[in-house]
Amino acid sequence: MGLDEPSLQTFPYEFRQGMAGRAHVLGDTGPNAPEHWDFGGQRPGSPPPEDIHLLLLLYARGEELLRTVLSRQRQRLAAQGFRELYSQHATHLREEKDGHIFFREHFGFRDSLSQPVIRGAMKPPRDADDYDSPIAAGEFILGHENEYQEKPLSPSVPASQDPQARLTPAESPGRKDLGLNGTYLVLRKLEQDVEGFQAFLEKNKALAPTGCRDDEKKKEWLKAKLLGRWPNGAPLKPGQHEAPDLGANPPSNAFRYAQEDGGGLGCPVTSHVRRTNPRDALAPNPDLSLKMSRRHRILRRGIAYGPSPKEGGAPPSGRGLIFMALNANIGRQFEFIQQSWMNHEKAGRLYNERDPVASGHARGMMTLPAKPLRRCVMNLQSFVTMKGGGYFFLPGVKALEFLAHLTPPAARQS
Ligand code: HEM
Repeated sequence: MGLDEPSLQTFPYEFRQGMAGRAHVLGDTGPNAPEHWDFGGQRPGSPPPEDIHLLLLLYARGEELLRTVLSRQRQRLAAQGFRELYSQHATHLREEKDGHIFFREHFGFRDSLSQPVIRGAMKPPRDADDYDSPIAAGEFILGHENEYQEKPLSPSVPASQDPQARLTPAESPGRKDLGLNGTYLVLRKLEQDVEGFQAFLEKNKALAPTGCRDDEKKKEWLKAKLLGRWPNGAPLKPGQHEAPDLGANPPSNAFRYAQEDGGGLGCPVTSHVRRTNPRDALAPNPDLSLKMSRRHRILRRGIAYGPSPKEGGAPPSGRGLIFMALNANIGRQFEFIQQSWMNHEKAGRLYNERDPVASGHARGMMTLPAKPLRRCVMNLQSFVTMKGGGYFFLPGVKALEFLAHLTPPAARQS
């Protein structure tokens, strides 16, 4: 960014360490460790210029347009002295039903259903269908009040470096606010072992209750229990053996757990969805739980890479999810969800279990609450492998203008 060391020190600790430096916190170990990543990792013996300085996200409505935009940007960047370290193509697995557009991920679930509505940012698109009131803007955008009624920590630069007054004064005297209206982007390339997942469902379908009509329905039941929603996006309710027909309605997000499904008979306590957002189900009570959950939300923008599983076979360059999350505090939001909710071995009153879909497992297990006796999913394997990523700063427009005109530190000294 061309900032000097004291200004870089005003960025949060986890951002300065970077995603690879946080591997121990994120559980990126073993086959998920940074030395195996395609980008953003610390390959043994690789020189420091391998560090990523810039992430460019290019979006287009079609492949041809994308190719044109990409080649134009490549020319521009090469002329500016940039060196391309890695590029990744991705496409939404898009689906249109009754006028609603949905995205699927490779395991076959509808995704991007539960998203925080931001207070004051826009007319809430599905406000009436959300389980809680809109979340404070400062959880996602720097310079605004967050769920603690505080402004998030924001990076700053000395006022002397901004003679054109492009930036707003920071709270500390003599400094300018570089973070205002910016945010942090978390990006992870997560490879999905679709064949492994299907084989696992096939092998363990007998765990499904006798009420499930046939083998396909049994696999769908088990799959839904691991994730915490039906593949069509419908929330899981106690007593269901099959996904409800949603008709022309989009899947609901207006559900809570404590009253209807406290024990997880519908949505298991350790399923992916309930771990990553426990809503009102945490101890000691629903009100506190809602308050707590609101402080650990992220805006997810996932997009699939690799061919659809419908095309068959395991593609040589893999398939998976480019997971993206926007948040104002990487440590308290994305990292907390990953470390304390997804990877933590104690959830609810259960021990020795981790997120069954998105965490690394070596012969893991998962408890499916059921009456009269719970069922245990044994020998869970890892269906997702971390392949690369990083933490990025998304500056607001004023900060972008400031950075574009900034004299780099070396030139400032001479
Ligand atoms: C390949 C890996 C992953 C897959 C296949 C996956 C898939 C899904 C699906 C299908 C949903 C339900 C749709 C929805 O509620 O929007 C979901 C929800 C969610 N996921 Fe993931 N996910 C993955 C990784 C992650 C990671 C790494 C995180 C964060 C650290 C995460 C956080 C969430 C959150 C916060 C929700 C919403 C829960 C709610 O509000 O009810 N996911 N995921």
